[in-house]
Amino acid sequence: MPGHFQYSTDEFLKALSVAVSVGIPAIILFGIPEKKDARGSGAWAKDGIVQRAAAAAKAKFPDLVVIADLCFCEYTDHGHCGIVRKGRVINDETLEFCARTAVSQARSGVDVVAPSGMMDGQVAAIRRGLDAEGFSETPILAYAAKYASAFYGPFRDAAESPPKFGDRSSYQMDPANAREALREAALDIQEGADIIMVKPALPYLDVLSAVRQKCPAPVAAYSVSGEFSMIKAAAKAGWIDGKKATLEALTAIKRAGADFIVTYHALEAAQWLA
Ligand code: PBG
Ligand code: ZN
Repeated sequence: MPGHFQYSTDEFLKALSVAVSVGIPAIILFGIPEKKDARGSGAWAKDGIVQRAAAAAKAKFPDLVVIADLCFCEYTDHGHCGIVRKGRVINDETLEFCARTAVSQARSGVDVVAPSGMMDGQVAAIRRGLDAEGFSETPILAYAAKYASAFYGPFRDAAESPPKFGDRSSYQMDPANAREALREAALDIQEGADIIMVKPALPYLDVLSAVRQKCPAPVAAYSVSGEFSMIKAAAKAGWIDGKKATLEALTAIKRAGADFIVTYHALEAAQWLA
């Protein structure tokens, strides 16, 4: 859930036990390292925050599917999703680190890696890297259609990850562009993606539906922090019925074709639906 907090391992495992008890089958991990640097080396550190969290989660809940977000913006001191030179993100140099991070995550017990940096060729690089290290069974959940969205605001505040200069529009997609999503999804599948992700969800239901219809892979929808916060804020102000609005939003995402939904509403929604 977005917000400023620090989880102890105990609190983390307690939250997971609640999730497991209400039937949530999978979690996705994001990490904020103690120290950020230019390359984002905390992302592939053996004792990195996500690696430690995954190991702790799998030790206690072996059946819980642990997905790890795979990007560098939470780990770099400049806040961009890759290696930066002269103020620009260098796509191809970043790929090696994507592969390295995927292998490190898999070694720590992560079940599914989810590259979200939108670097061209990241899925192929990660697939090659995992296969070479004996993780050919580890699936890739690819953020194929990730838009340069204003709805990531609360997440960036929580992850202290807004770019220090420029924005992400050189690697995230233009909200006006629908067909590019299908092209990106097809490319990712060609490169070996097992599941395709569309993000955000609610403002992009047309994209989700098109990807669902045209893509031979399962489709996940990521309902992002801004979507969550809007419902929460409006409910708090007494403007909408929070529970009804939440279930309606999740139903709409499902109706549009999502096979999986990543949502900050997961805990409460699972409780309501139980
Ligand atoms: C990092 C990343 C972002 C989110 C998930 N992974 C932020 C971004 O691209 O700036 C946003 C998630 C959310 O808003 O809930 N690549
Ligand atoms: Zn990123």
